[in-house]
Amino acid sequence: MPKPFSYPPFRPRDIEQNPSEPVAVQTLKTSLFKCPSCSSNLGQPTEGQANTYQCANRHCFDIAKEGYVNLLLAQHKRSSSPGDGDEMIRSRQRFLNAGYYRPLADAIAKQVLQLGANQRVLDIGCGEGYYMEQLRSSANNLELYGIDISKTAVRMAAKRKLNAQLAVDSAYNIPLIDSSINTALSVFSPISAIETARVLTPKGRLIMIGPGAEHLAGLTAHIYENTVPHEGNPLNTTATDSEFNLLETIELNQEITVRLSHVEDLLKMTPYYWHARPEQQEAICALKELTTTVHFVINIYAPKEATETAWLADE
Ligand SMILES: C[S@@+](CC[C@H](N)C(=O)[O-])C[C@H]1O[C@@H](n2cnc3c(N)ncnc32)[C@H](O)[C@@H]1O
Ligand SMILES: [Zn+2]
Repeated sequence: MPKPFSYPPFRPRDIEQNPSEPVAVQTLKTSLFKCPSCSSNLGQPTEGQANTYQCANRHCFDIAKEGYVNLLLAQHKRSSSPGDGDEMIRSRQRFLNAGYYRPLADAIAKQVLQLGANQRVLDIGCGEGYYMEQLRSSANNLELYGIDISKTAVRMAAKRKLNAQLAVDSAYNIPLIDSSINTALSVFSPISAIETARVLTPKGRLIMIGPGAEHLAGLTAHIYENTVPHEGNPLNTTATDSEFNLLETIELNQEITVRLSHVEDLLKMTPYYWHARPEQQEAICALKELTTTVHFVINIYAPKEATETAWLADE
């Protein structure tokens, strides 16, 4: 009688030796970052493993020694060093660290914490990390994410050692999976409404800070003959329809006196530096102090569909 058919015994070793199996990724913990090459989840190494994010298709992204990952593919770059220039970023760090914009940082922290102390916050265009540091010092439990297209900025943010997940990438192609973030922040940074809505949870919030009409009027008075009111920083939809409903607007308006080398830092951290003629640049940098209004507009948005659903649910 012929023997009944049976499958040969299963040998796990066969699978381990199969080079097409993504063995390494199984030992990584899933992160919220997605692979810029194939959009699948990136696995994050745990302690003792190689410092590399890896996806199921074995695309690898090394974690720099400062603790950030560069997810900006060369083919997505428009220039060799996109984003703000290094000198602009360093000037901004010196100016911000001196505390001149602390009232804004406090207002941001207050708004974020009102939405919860245990949430995931993404700072889009986080720059050198000043606002993330203020957030971290006001709440230990926040899960902080920051992205910026400038590698220098992200490296400087990483050096602040904030226990934050930091990546070099574009706001127009956020390297995070859908519905992963509770609050997105944009402080004077460009955003894509569509991309931001994609990464927010349905009940998430976007807090967007831009300049008010009188912002830095004391500085621009040294550059322009007639004071031109700031046009503000409206939500850049990059789409036919806005993805968000505006819930609330808060304005901060006060005078500050900027002293000594911080006057030069203030000029160099803004595009006004390039608008000023060389003799104006020199005259401003020579000032011992400069008094100016700082005027910030904080807009708080909810994703459109979510707001509409929430209204229906409340009825
Ligand atoms: C005016 S700075 C603000 C930085 C920071 N939010 C702050 O207020 O200190 C704008 C930042 O956006 C970054 N940026 C410009 N284009 C970007 C893009 N497409 N994606 C992500 N970041 C971008 C710049 O490198 C810069 O750090
Ligand atoms: Zn991949």
